[in-house]
Amino acid sequence: MAPPPHPARRLAGVASSPVREILALTQRPGVVSFAGGLPAPELFDAAGLRDAFADALADRAAGRSLQYSTTEGDPALRAAVAERLSRRGLPTEPGELLITSGSQQALTLVAAVLLEPGDAVLVEEPSYLAALQCFQLAGARLISIPCDDDGLIPDAVRDLVRAERPKLLYTVPTFHNPTGRTLPEARRRALAEVAAREGLWLVEDDPYGELRYRGAPEPAVAALPGAEDRTIALSTLSKVLAPGLRIGWLRAPATLRRALAVAKQAADLHSSTVDQAAAARWLASNDLDLHVARLRAAYGARRDALVDGLPDALPEGSSWTRPDGGMFVWVRLPGGWDADALLQDALTRDVAFVPGWPFFAGEPDRATLRLSFTAHPPAEILEGLERLRATVRARDPASTVR
Ligand SMILES: Cc1ncc(COP(=O)(O)O)c(C=O)c1O
Repeated sequence: MAPPPHPARRLAGVASSPVREILALTQRPGVVSFAGGLPAPELFDAAGLRDAFADALADRAAGRSLQYSTTEGDPALRAAVAERLSRRGLPTEPGELLITSGSQQALTLVAAVLLEPGDAVLVEEPSYLAALQCFQLAGARLISIPCDDDGLIPDAVRDLVRAERPKLLYTVPTFHNPTGRTLPEARRRALAEVAAREGLWLVEDDPYGELRYRGAPEPAVAALPGAEDRTIALSTLSKVLAPGLRIGWLRAPATLRRALAVAKQAADLHSSTVDQAAAARWLASNDLDLHVARLRAAYGARRDALVDGLPDALPEGSSWTRPDGGMFVWVRLPGGWDADALLQDALTRDVAFVPGWPFFAGEPDRATLRLSFTAHPPAEILEGLERLRATVRARDPASTVR
């Protein structure tokens, strides 16, 4: 008997996401989890979606909703998304959009279309873990961009582009995952200029931009001079409606659209027809602005509960971000603390978070961790913080604040 051949070598360097493994541990009842970037399930519009699916499956529509469909996506859904993007400052025609199975698939398609094995890709430090996996799977060489509290540093991008000649730069400029930080307008403009001058594709991933709790919106990078013809903008219904729908999209320049559609055909022919039909119906008969306003009110209070409670829960000398929106706070523990070790203790006290190291393409900072504040109401967040405080105290009584 001969064994079957080995799996592809490109898989060897791609680790399974520890986030998914931690999520499995936090399914137990009673755990306060700051781990996953999960929307609050009690805020899903289940009734509205039930109606939308019923309508999509009504006798007059079912033949179409249950049939194969076009790769680019449901025309009504593309029109609704284009209208929304345009209203939010990114003028978009439906024909510029490709509906994807979550924005995660958009990342896969971008990698398939743009990357050869060995190509350099610039990523923020730290960066969204599943994007790192996706680019690694395509055989890319990941290079971290130096970042500060405002996000990536455009001069550092310019120097890296000149030194490494990357194909693309991946950024989450608004309410970044995992740090929660937002790239200011001046840096967005500078980034667009670098991309135009040096020749670079930009991938602007924006799943969180609508979840703003304070301050005024920044312009989309894709809308800025220099970036218009070289930015692939991604977003999703996952954070504003429901991630289980698996509906995202990419907005691509004309030169890439055909290739992206071919890559999508090869991946899955098209995203689920019935899910797209239901999403389009939900958007037609509900007010997404109103729904998002509810989410913002609820999540804003959760963000405040977490940020206000952190001084009492973390070891003295810790620092953390204070995001204006999104789902995440990024913490750096003081010297000597290891977030992985802290997590093991925290799990025994039924509180969870994600250690920061998997989000680094380069040398990880093991004192970092990510806290998500959206999945629990404020009272449970306070309980989680109390458990975190007890965990920290038990580990090192001397360094606890109070
Ligand atoms: C930055 C970022 N991009 C993309 C995704 C993928 O989202 P989805 O595939 O559900 O649209 C996520 C999910 O957490 C994310 O944080």
